[in-house]
Amino acid sequence: MSRTPYLAGNWKMHLTKRKASALARGVAAHQGENGNRKVAVFPAFVHLDHVRRNLKGSNVILGAQNCYGKKEGAFTGEISPYMLRDMGVQVVMVGHSERRHVFGESEDMLREKVKIALRAKLDVMLCVGETLAEREANDTFRVLARQMRALKVVKPEHASRVTVAYEPVWAIGTGETATPEMAQEAHAECRRLIAEIFDEASAQAMPILYGGSVKAGNAAELLSQPDIDGALVGGASLSIDDFGPILDAAN
Ligand code: PGA
Repeated sequence: MSRTPYLAGNWKMHLTKRKASALARGVAAHQGENGNRKVAVFPAFVHLDHVRRNLKGSNVILGAQNCYGKKEGAFTGEISPYMLRDMGVQVVMVGHSERRHVFGESEDMLREKVKIALRAKLDVMLCVGETLAEREANDTFRVLARQMRALKVVKPEHASRVTVAYEPVWAIGTGETATPEMAQEAHAECRRLIAEIFDEASAQAMPILYGGSVKAGNAAELLSQPDIDGALVGGASLSIDDFGPILDAAN
């Protein structure tokens, strides 16, 4: 089965309103009418509305970097997936390694986020990946199995609204990338886990993105691996000069 390449830009806590809007226009222009790849951007919450307006008329998907695992209530400082949906957001990232490791989000919390985001009619991009210590201890597959368990809350009919991003923590923002072989091995394992949780057809259909120091120079080789269906790009998604060639590497 051939899966449409999916390229996503994670803008993290970067850019001003003006720069985010300009970058959105740049991504939309670069994507043009291209229907052979899916492209998404994940701006900071406060830039979502500006970015949405600057993406209007394009097929670029609007994503949010996080949400809370409740519909509404006394949760000062948090953002409901229903609010995101109301603002025109289409997909939300859950479990990015910075959420897990900098903010200490637990598996229980992430499971709630997946559940409520899907209920709010957002698509979900679940991020998984091992730390360097876990890789060195040969624990990568065990960590993936534990983190992928969050998908057990997904109803089978909603599996098509889920994307997985494999991001080895040691490769994020470090300039160090997993070799294409290492990444492929982890992706194949993620796909096997998806088949276990849902079924083989869902596993074959679900996009699995690689993230961690993806650049124009390594994107094509990573994307050529059979189980790597796209890229989740941080640093190199912050300018169209860097991100544009990564988008083109998917063709
Ligand atoms: P990076 O970030 O491309 O800067 O390594 C990737 C990510 O955290 O999604």
